[in-house]
Amino acid sequence: MCGIVGYIGDKNALPILLDGLKRLEYRGYDSAGVAIVGDDLRVIKTAGRIANLEERLKSETLIGTLGVAHTRWATHGIPNDNNAHPHFSESKNIVVIHNGIIENYLEIKKMLIHEGRTFRTETDTEVIAYLIEEFYEGDLLKAVKKATEILEGSYAIAVLSKDEKDRFVAVRKDSPLIAGVGDGENFIASDIPAVLPYTKDIIIFENGDIVDVRRDRIDIYDKNLNSIKRTVQRIDWKIEDAQKSGFKHFMLKEIFEEPKVIREAMRGRIKNGEIEVPEIMLDSEYLKGISQVYFVACGTAYHAGVYGKYLAEKYLRIPAQAEVASEFRYRNPVIDGRTLVFIISQSGETTDTLAALRFAKEHGAKTIGIVNVVGSSVAREVNKVIYIHAGPEIAVASTKAYVAQVEVIALTIFYLAKLIGKLPKVQEDLIVKELMSLEDKAKSIIERSSEISDFVSTVKNIEETFYIGRNMDFALSLEGALKLKEISYVHAEGYPAGELKHGPLALVTPNSLVIAISTFTPLRDKTLSNIKEVKARRGKVLAVAREGYENMNEVADRVFYVPKVMDDLSPIITVIPLQLIAYYMAESRGLDIDKPRNLAKSVTVE
Ligand code: M6R
Repeated sequence: MCGIVGYIGDKNALPILLDGLKRLEYRGYDSAGVAIVGDDLRVIKTAGRIANLEERLKSETLIGTLGVAHTRWATHGIPNDNNAHPHFSESKNIVVIHNGIIENYLEIKKMLIHEGRTFRTETDTEVIAYLIEEFYEGDLLKAVKKATEILEGSYAIAVLSKDEKDRFVAVRKDSPLIAGVGDGENFIASDIPAVLPYTKDIIIFENGDIVDVRRDRIDIYDKNLNSIKRTVQRIDWKIEDAQKSGFKHFMLKEIFEEPKVIREAMRGRIKNGEIEVPEIMLDSEYLKGISQVYFVACGTAYHAGVYGKYLAEKYLRIPAQAEVASEFRYRNPVIDGRTLVFIISQSGETTDTLAALRFAKEHGAKTIGIVNVVGSSVAREVNKVIYIHAGPEIAVASTKAYVAQVEVIALTIFYLAKLIGKLPKVQEDLIVKELMSLEDKAKSIIERSSEISDFVSTVKNIEETFYIGRNMDFALSLEGALKLKEISYVHAEGYPAGELKHGPLALVTPNSLVIAISTFTPLRDKTLSNIKEVKARRGKVLAVAREGYENMNEVADRVFYVPKVMDDLSPIITVIPLQLIAYYMAESRGLDIDKPRNLAKSVTVE
């Protein structure tokens, strides 16, 4: 979704703003623009990539130490130069950049047109600039405050005035916004990587914060302009965390980081051979009374939730369901104070997920967040947050976050099972031993990534793919298929292996590829039979199977063996070859792997 950067200081703003935008590219966008206050207030913007904007800027002189910049992911109006941000007010004295959606923009627009205003774009954002201008009487802060009283929807905005060269004003409501605190300079951005080269002192704004940014201070106000304080946090990210560090793509770097991610997600959660997730701290009477468990999320995080459903059902013996957030929130599910809802989100800012969280809370459920981005909206609003500690994930396709989500879900379920007396110590000992072996097993898979790229080179022209599996392998098949379609644009479906013959088998021809995941021991012979059904229709089969299951060699065209690990933990490492299949397929097609078409990293619209 849109990316926002703002700068005020003593340096030339333009290179800092462009650098910040590039660090937010992962959010997904289709146009970019910049506004600088120098002798005048200038805006340059263009459809397409930041490189197009840089090309345009070659013939311009934009000098000034105050400016804002934006990458737009189109919602209202097609992606073209005109609809790109920043947007001027009617007189061109004020500019606005915005991430989010103004839900009542049509009413405001009609009202302003009625008063004789003329608009230039199809966007919802433009009304913000016009509205601020309506209220402007020489003090940008006051004008912005009055405008926000009228605006409905979600917005992170930054506003500049031609007449106030010593400040800009920003507001956060339901869209992410942070500040970087520098020495004689200050920054705002949609996300921390944008400011990482300049400062590690970060303020994470809360909903409703109105922020007056000056060179030497950042003043924060509530909606009535009462002064409020927010903590400045020193973050320990290294700049390399947000760089490719020699890898061709962020996605590949992030897959290769997975062994480390597996270790980090466990840190502090296995003590003296015992599983402990101290963040939970729920009353034991409450825990014993839980009547049902939900896993609610979107996309990849939802697939982690599908795994959670199988695990929770097995270890807690409580009814468990996984559901996509956009369905859950509008379905009127039966939930009450005895319902425990896991909200899973890498970014912690996904609009549908946030809305589902609020819905669950309103209906009395307790919520546990499984979140990557520290201080994000989900992290702040859930009853308990468990961070996955995966580090910044830049590629749009989520990989290392999935690994960490699944692992943290497993740790949490095991811990809850312990708390309610359903995990005997001998079983816990076995699980801990297996958990401790995962990092090395993940490394050994990554060391064999050339096996995957070789295989992909033999099927790179394939157009139809099915991922099949049973039980937790089915949860993985959903994720494998999503990964392939989102970055390689090859049509892919994840199916329960037993369901193939109830319809999709009609599509299987010698030009189809079936990726059969078979690590769930009790059902592996059943999956084997399903593979035979595919082979009988001359479909091509790659099996991803557990080491030692040699029968697979006899039926599948190729087998990628994953190291032995207990069934319940298998998804944590078995997803790696699936992620690599998607990566190498997209690479063989020369696609923009880190920024797939039409997609955004953080989906902050419904
Ligand atoms: O930040 P979140 O985990 O809430 O994001 C949820 C989905 O938008 C996300 O997983 C999406 O499906 C990814 N592009 C998948 O790779």
